[in-house]
Amino acid sequence: MDISKNAFQVDAEIARAWTLPAELYRDASIWTAEKEKIFSRTWQVVGHGSQVAHPGDYFTTELMGEPLLFVRGSDAKLRGFYNVCRHRAGPPAEGCGSHKLFRCGYHGWTYGLDGALIRATEIEGVEGFRPEDFALKAVRTEEWFSLVFVNLDLEARPLRESLGELPQQAEKFPFAEMKLFERRTYDMKCNWKTYVDNYLEGYHLPSVHPGLNRELDYNAYVVEPYERHVRQFSPIRGAQPGDATPRRYPNAREDLTTDYFWIFPNWMLNCYPDNVSLNIVLPVEAERSLAIFEWYLPEKDHGAPAAKASVEFSDQIQSEDVGICETVQKNLRSRSYSRGRFSVKQEKGVHAFHRMYAEWMKDSKS
Ligand code: FES
Ligand SMILES: [Fe+2]
Repeated sequence: MDISKNAFQVDAEIARAWTLPAELYRDASIWTAEKEKIFSRTWQVVGHGSQVAHPGDYFTTELMGEPLLFVRGSDAKLRGFYNVCRHRAGPPAEGCGSHKLFRCGYHGWTYGLDGALIRATEIEGVEGFRPEDFALKAVRTEEWFSLVFVNLDLEARPLRESLGELPQQAEKFPFAEMKLFERRTYDMKCNWKTYVDNYLEGYHLPSVHPGLNRELDYNAYVVEPYERHVRQFSPIRGAQPGDATPRRYPNAREDLTTDYFWIFPNWMLNCYPDNVSLNIVLPVEAERSLAIFEWYLPEKDHGAPAAKASVEFSDQIQSEDVGICETVQKNLRSRSYSRGRFSVKQEKGVHAFHRMYAEWMKDSKS
């Protein structure tokens, strides 16, 4: 498909801007370009610090088809590598666990926790072979807020710098004291941007989520775009005089907020006073994505019925969101539609995302 040059033009002024054209939500060549220009150059969440708490602890994963290995060194430093043996591309590590060294599953070359090649089996007689030339290839790895991040771009800005104001906004929530309670993966027939767009506005709350809408003060919903993230927050409604509707936070104080952070391009932190959930949206194909949801709560609350209720509550919201996103994705294929306009009042977050997206797709900043 021929993608027109001005597909990546999104006016800085929301009142004048048009949304991203529909073709960017369905074309396979766009998805290939996004992998290169966005997903290989931004900080991506790949795990939780508890998976690599002690020296020798490691886990393997894949990001955009790249096999990766993360390991806590004997010096307590977290390191990340391509999980690809330097001999003939076998697997140095599998699954997760704890090791003193890694032995490749193909011919047994061994690597240290720092990625150095310790021993190549039966390599005698190979001319000019120097083990130091065959260490595992490293990737940039950093930690923040108990989460493990990777960036495949060796030139990328350090994580902290790229997070901007996010740490000071999110760190008031006691995430570090919470433990994983449940994880669910939703397979969605939509482009990853369809899902992100939907996440970034509260405009659809009254029609799509009547249940959630009861809990939040729709008129007080605030959307604040930053350089690489968007903060949406809303005071939580306590019980209202004369209203018998049961509330999840009946004694809500005025200063209590729920904060929904979306961080460019594809992850979110939903912070409630008593639980935090992490969402990661992973594109699989142009029109298929996974949403990984992880719910974290203080360990003392894991047995409480409220814990299950929190998960079921957001599972309900998620199925409502998946429903509308899949319908929208289908309609983005209609010959009748190419692009739309934004509500100035309600879609600041979506506009900010489209601006960031267009900028990253136009050039290759880090
Ligand atoms: S591929 Fe790893 S030892 Fe041969
Ligand atoms: Fe929603």
